[in-house]
Amino acid sequence: MEQVKIIIVGFGTVGRGLAEVIKRKKDHVKEELGLDIRLVGVADLRGAMVDADGLDIDDALEWKCEIRDIDSLQLIREGEYDLMVETTPSNVETGEPAFTHIKEALMRGKHVVTSNKGPLALYYRELTDLAARSGCSLKFEATVGGAMPIINLIRNNLAGNRILSIKGIFNGTCNYILTRMTEEGLPYSYVLSEAQSLGIAEADPSYDVDGIDTAEKLTILANAVLGMDVAYNSVAVEGIRRITPDALRLALDKGYVIKLIGEAREGKIEVAPRLIPKDHPFALMRGTLNIAEIEADLAGPITVMGRGAGAIEAASAIFSDIISIYR
Ligand code: HSE
Repeated sequence: MEQVKIIIVGFGTVGRGLAEVIKRKKDHVKEELGLDIRLVGVADLRGAMVDADGLDIDDALEWKCEIRDIDSLQLIREGEYDLMVETTPSNVETGEPAFTHIKEALMRGKHVVTSNKGPLALYYRELTDLAARSGCSLKFEATVGGAMPIINLIRNNLAGNRILSIKGIFNGTCNYILTRMTEEGLPYSYVLSEAQSLGIAEADPSYDVDGIDTAEKLTILANAVLGMDVAYNSVAVEGIRRITPDALRLALDKGYVIKLIGEAREGKIEVAPRLIPKDHPFALMRGTLNIAEIEADLAGPITVMGRGAGAIEAASAIFSDIISIYR
């Protein structure tokens, strides 16, 4: 039985979702895959909980284990673990604190799985080069599309294909807001605060509604699967703040819905609200659903959809990444 000692750095919605998933799935993974996954450390701004034999997850979720007065960096630099999961809030100006956390773990030869978009949208090459030099895995399926498989799907199932373009809906919060505004005529600010209380919005929800989150995801896709070398600031971005209930109603009368669409292809990366005919597959994505239309040179068009936001959805992608490193 192979033992995998995991630390989670950043114990907010997604980090806690992962702890919940480890609790629910660890016996299954032991029996089916021969992997003994243990949560040996958790850190956030409150300090750290550490147990080399494995923390009691219920206690950890209630922050009831013995709390050490060490910060995340100390845990990453000195802790005894095999793999770090980085789930601190994303920052697209600096990529911090995740950028430093990821570098420090990789430099120690530890595998990293993250849902944190900022550092990958800003420093994709630097981080992937460092992982390669350290002989470690750096996996980030959860950065794009929540539970919807896209990066690993393209890398594994479309291996050998050149990906010509990717277009779709990549922000669950905006899609949730637009769906409820369209279908129920609810005001923007009301639905936004609902999205925040459901734990689907970013810590700073302007990342969602201003299209920044979608732009980060497109940058990651462009670098990771479209073979491009682009920085986040090369994306043309427009968000959904200015879309009024009247505009949505008018569009609907003419047979359209408005969706926030991201598109990446050689020479163009763009995020903008677009009119979508009511019977187009993109128009059928309600609530937090994401969808991606992939155009590959051999396979042709492939479409995937799935829940793009939420704690367990993001944790699903992180958990699969963890397993894939050891399988
Ligand atoms: N806030 C993001 C969204 C979470 O709404 O899609 C998943 O990346």
